[in-house]
Amino acid sequence: MIKENNNIKIQIASDEHLPYVDIILSTIEQAAKVRGTGIARRNPDYIRNKIKEGKAIIALSGDEFAGFCYIESWGHEKFVANSGLIVAEKFRGQGLAKRIKRMAFELSRKRYPNAKIFGLTTGLAVMKINSELGYKPVTFSELTDDEEFWKGCQSCVNYDILMRTNRKHCLCTGMLFDPAKDNKPEPLPPKRLNVYGRWLRFKQFVFLKANGNSKNKNNKNKRNLLKSLFAALFT
Ligand SMILES: CC(C)(COP(=O)(O)OP(=O)(O)OC[C@H]1O[C@@H](n2cnc3c(N)ncnc32)[C@H](O)[C@@H]1OP(=O)(O)O)[C@@H](O)C(=O)NCCC(=O)NCCS
Repeated sequence: MIKENNNIKIQIASDEHLPYVDIILSTIEQAAKVRGTGIARRNPDYIRNKIKEGKAIIALSGDEFAGFCYIESWGHEKFVANSGLIVAEKFRGQGLAKRIKRMAFELSRKRYPNAKIFGLTTGLAVMKINSELGYKPVTFSELTDDEEFWKGCQSCVNYDILMRTNRKHCLCTGMLFDPAKDNKPEPLPPKRLNVYGRWLRFKQFVFLKANGNSKNKNNKNKRNLLKSLFAALFT
C-alpha cells in the first residue's frame, strides 16, 4: 500500500523508517505546545514497535518527514484506535492528513475487519476527516473500556477533567466507525461543521472554567448542560 501525490509518498512504515521516530515525536510534542492542548504522550519504544508491527503510516517528501499516524487494537481487538496523527507544518493544508487517515483507516479495516474504529480528538480538521470516513461522534461510553487505552490519557494535561467526570467527558470528542452499521461516509455540510466548531469551543469553556474553580456549585449544572447539549447535537 503506497500512495504518491505531489511528490509526497504515503506508505505503511517499516524498519527502514525507524530513524524517523525522534522527529515524529518532537513534531507531535511541538504541535501540542503550539495548540495549547493535551496529548497522550508516547515514548520512542512505543512508536518503534508500531512501525515494526506494520501498524503505522508515514508520509515522506523525498527523505523529509511529512506526516504520521498509527493504529492500535484494544479490548481484545473489538476496537481499533487511529492515533498520533501529525502533519509537519510546512506540509499542512494540502490534504495530507486526509490521505494519511484514509490509509490508516484502510489498514485498520484490513487487519481488524470486525473491529469498531475510533479516535479521540480536540481538532476540527480531524472531526471533519473522520466524518468523511463514516465516523460518528459518540459519548465515551461507546468506546473501549480497555483500561490500557485510557491509561494513555494520563500524560495529557487535561487528565484531571477525564477523572473528574468519571471518564464520561473531556475536551476530546470521541468518534466511532461501526462496521456493523451503515456508516456511509457523508460530506460534512458547512452548517454541521459550524456545529462541531461551536461544540469544541463550548466544551473548552465549560471544562476549563470548571477546572479553574472546582468548588463552584455551578460546575455541576454546567456539566449537566453539557450532557444535554451533546445529546441534542449528536443523537
Ligand atoms: C490537524 C492536522 C493533522 C491537519 O493536517 P492537514 O494535512 O493540514 O489537513 P488536510 O489538509 O488534510 O485537511 C483536512 C480537512 O480539514 C480542514 N482543516 C485543516 N486544518 C484545519 C484547521 N486547523 N481547522 C479547521 N479545519 C481544518 C481542511 O480544510 C480540510 O477540509 P476540506 O477537505 O473541506 O478542505 C495538522 O494541522 C496537524 O498536524 N496539527 C497538529 C497535530 C494535531 O492537531 N493532530 C490531531 C490530533 S487529534
